[in-house]
Amino acid sequence: MRMTTSDSVNILTKPLIINGLSIKNRFILGPMAVLRPTDDGRPSEQTIAFLKRRAQGGIGLAIVGGSVCSERAWGESPFTPNLRFDKDEFVNDLKRLTDAVHEHDTAIFAQLFPSFGRMGVPRKGREIIAASSKSVDIGSNGLPDNLYIPGGRVTPYPKEATSAEIKEIEESVVSAAKRAKAAGFDGVEIGAHMCYFYSSFLSPLTNKRNDEYGGSTENRARILRDVVAAVRSEVGTGFPIGIRISVNDHSPLGQDASGFADVASYIACSGLDFISLSDGNYESMRDNVPSESGNMLAHGEPQVFRKALGNNIKLFLSSTPDPRQAAEAINAGYVDANMLARQMLADPDYANKIIQGRENEIVWCDHSNSCLRRLMINAPVACHKNPEMGQEDPKAKKSNGIQNFIVWATGNKHLMNLADRAIRGVRKVI
Ligand SMILES: Cc1cc2nc3c(=O)[nH]c(=O)nc-3n(C[C@H](O)[C@H](O)[C@H](O)COP(=O)(O)O)c2cc1C
Ligand code: SF4
Repeated sequence: MRMTTSDSVNILTKPLIINGLSIKNRFILGPMAVLRPTDDGRPSEQTIAFLKRRAQGGIGLAIVGGSVCSERAWGESPFTPNLRFDKDEFVNDLKRLTDAVHEHDTAIFAQLFPSFGRMGVPRKGREIIAASSKSVDIGSNGLPDNLYIPGGRVTPYPKEATSAEIKEIEESVVSAAKRAKAAGFDGVEIGAHMCYFYSSFLSPLTNKRNDEYGGSTENRARILRDVVAAVRSEVGTGFPIGIRISVNDHSPLGQDASGFADVASYIACSGLDFISLSDGNYESMRDNVPSESGNMLAHGEPQVFRKALGNNIKLFLSSTPDPRQAAEAINAGYVDANMLARQMLADPDYANKIIQGRENEIVWCDHSNSCLRRLMINAPVACHKNPEMGQEDPKAKKSNGIQNFIVWATGNKHLMNLADRAIRGVRKVI
């Protein structure tokens, strides 16, 4: 029997304690690179207004996405500009951001990227690095609805990271976590999903190394176990540290949920507090950005993680905007909180509407993915279901006519099929 509305509200409004931090409810704004920082990587008025608006809407925790913690990540980011955590000079500006979110009794974590790995863009002669030299065949195992990549896209080959580069990256995460704490963030999440640097170590599909970072499950977990331990020793005991990892490669030769959960269990004992679950990656984008609520639960992936990790590591669910599904998963003990991304673009008041019994007023995300198409062409992200999105600061710059046309065209199935055939035809002739 399905849970009643009032039961699900009771579950979703129960505070969550993560390493001593009390979060007022189970609604989390998932990390999204939609924050439009200034060109030099500081929070803009729009960055602050966007996050403040979601905090006003009732979420318990905001995870700040699209942020970089090294010069390398700043230079190679596929989605620019990003929020910077790589120098002390950014701390005061970041403090304005955390203060604005805290005003609404909402906690705030920083998601930190030290390198974009296989998704990095090699600029100014700098090579991109990963566990092994393997490119990303984007969408090779399926693209989300209304997203087309005519001719397909394969990223450049990265160089295998040296031990010295691995240590340098670790140091950048540690310094950035200290800055995040100084700027008033309540915790940090290390980005280790979506074909970015750390993720390439976790699965045998992308890690072909013969050194202490490759081969066995323990070796593939080593890089993240070390960085979590290093951050813990610098930020102290009472500061939440998490990672975002994939739960499944969703690829014929890839690693499944039990393989990823085994890797996670080696990382868990190094001082880790939570895992933000992410499904698939750029090669299996259909699973990563699904159109149905509760896909991850239907695959049984959070359940496998819970069994492997126990209750001490808090688990954040993804892509489950149906509040009853999320509450049932929390009630069953599979996960501890619900992390929402696109739904929070479409309706910043989603959490309050559920809490106040106004579910019938929710503006539902329609999974048309025009927000993603905007992100992919580096245009200001907007949501056609919510005209306020991207304009929370009315002075924020809007996308121009050409960008709007490209967003429309790249979502048109017929046009994109024609473009796909044309590109593949030209390739054959060449
Ligand atoms: C516009 C946009 C930007 C995103 N940026 C990030 C990001 O910076 N970091 C990240 O971990 N995930 C990012 N994501 C992925 C989301 O956090 C989330 O995993 C994905 O959208 C699936 O969740 P949903 O079904 O709730 O949208 C982004 C997604 C969208 C739509
Ligand atoms: S543009 Fe808005 S409605 Fe469409 S998928 Fe993105 S968030 Fe959802």
